[in-house]
Parts: sequence; C-alpha cells; structure tokens
Amino acid sequence: MADYDILGNIAIIKGEGKTNEEKLKQAEELLGKPSIKTVLERASNVKGRLRTIKTKFLAGTKNLIAMHKENNCVFKFNVETCYFSPRLSNERKLIAEKIRKTDKVLVMFAGVGAFPIVIYKYKKPKKIIGIEIGKDCCKYFNENLRLNKISPYDVEVIQGDVKKKVTKKLGKFEVIIMARPNLKETFLKYGLIASKKGTRIFYHGFCRKDELEELKGQLIEEAKKQKRKIEIEDIVPIGEIAPFKNRWRIEIKVLK
Ligand SMILES: C[S@@+](CC[C@H](N)C(=O)[O-])C[C@H]1O[C@@H](n2cnc3c(N)ncnc32)[C@H](O)[C@@H]1O
Repeated sequence: MADYDILGNIAIIKGEGKTNEEKLKQAEELLGKPSIKTVLERASNVKGRLRTIKTKFLAGTKNLIAMHKENNCVFKFNVETCYFSPRLSNERKLIAEKIRKTDKVLVMFAGVGAFPIVIYKYKKPKKIIGIEIGKDCCKYFNENLRLNKISPYDVEVIQGDVKKKVTKKLGKFEVIIMARPNLKETFLKYGLIASKKGTRIFYHGFCRKDELEELKGQLIEEAKKQKRKIEIEDIVPIGEIAPFKNRWRIEIKVLK
C-alpha cells in the first residue's frame, strides 16, 4: 500500500516512523509531480462520525482545498472537514456499472457526492438522493453538482442524519448504497426502511476475512428484527484498511 494519497493538487503522506528530514525529502519529491502543489502530513487517524483527519503542513502552497479528478468527474472539498478516499475510485465505477437507467438510487453517507456524481455520470438513472450529515460535505456536494453540470433535480442533496432523514416519506428505492463509516452501528435498519421487495443494497463492512460469517449473521438477524428478509448475494473485497482487515462490499437483496 502506498504511504501517501494524492487528492488532485494535494498529497497527504503518512509520517509514522519517518524523521522530519525524511518527511521533507518525500514532500519535495511529491512536489516534483506536475499536479501536486501542496504536501501535508496526516496528523491523526480518521476520527468521529464525520470520519475526518487532521493534517500538518509540510511543503508547497498552504492550502486545504483539493480539486480531485476521477472517473471523468471533478470533486472539490476541504481535506480536513470532509471524508474523501481516492482509493474508492474503482469501487465507485464498479457500483455505477451495476445501476440501471430505471433505478431510483439512495446514497446514504454521501460525503461530497462522489458516489452519486460518478453514478449519474455513467448511468443517468431516474433519480439519485444523497444523504450526508456533514454541513461542509453538503456544501461541497452542492458545489460538485455544479462543477459536474448535474441538476439538483437529478441528484438531490439532503443534509442530516440518516437516522432522521430516512423515513417512510422518502419513498422506496431500487438501489441503496451504504458506503458506511467504519463505526459499530450497521445502519441496516435505515436502509431497510427505504427498501422494497427486490431492492439491492450495496453495503460496506469492515472486518477480517475470518469474521465475515459473523458479520453476515449479524446483518441477517438485524433484518429479522425488523421483520424483513434479506439474502446476501455476493461479498467482494475492496481494499485493505489495516493489516489483515478489509473493506468488503456486501451485496444484499431484499426479499421481504
Ligand atoms: C466513509 S465516509 C463515506 C463517504 C462517501 N461515501 C465517499 O465515498 O466519499 C462516511 C460519511 O458518512 C457521513 N456520516 C456519518 N454518520 C452519518 C449519519 N448518521 N448520517 C449521515 N451521514 C453520516 C460522514 O460525515 C462521512 O462523510
């Protein structure tokens, strides 16, 4: 795994185990790449409900606003107030490929709009709604719609907690994307409120490979508690998040 991330004009390096001299040398090397204007050090782990990080300035222009391109889309965001992982770029494309034009899509935990915008660009489904709790994320989500020339009627932004915003009134969706934060709570209950028979849920889970059966059991049990029935159709690894610990895409079909 590379020990840095590139977010368009900003590179963020991991500093653990490196001397100051080594960090500055790496920063100067990264500044040699044409797009990179700022190099920061990651000064904290991803934390809290907003899944944000703290950074320390290392070299280049002092700036926290990234302009990042992926999947023929552009994303603007503040690297300290918004979660954004360039490592999910391929996952966004793979999920977009699974969407049909006739689908109504709900993206829970939408961040700065990366999943909704990539899906809209590739497939132009009937409607996409993105729910995100972070106010700054929603500000950039709206700005990213403008930057990618997408109408707010096609992709709608709802700022708030999925626990409050996903109600029966929101309606039912053919597809629900739950690229969730790596927190204990599964949030599946809320995904099920917006599901009908046949809804497909793309759910991100975080665990070791030998813990997958337990996670599957937990999800099936949670559905049962809501008097619903789900089937797990596929489980796909989508990258290591720590030694031996993976992010998994769990593909769920709602049966009842
Ligand atoms: C792992 S990030 C996923 C971001 C996005 N899917 C992406 O690919 O960039 C989780 C996001 O969920 C948001 N979030 C966390 N808890 C939430 C909640 N209860 N309701 C709505 N959004 C929430 C965080 O602010 C964060 O932006």
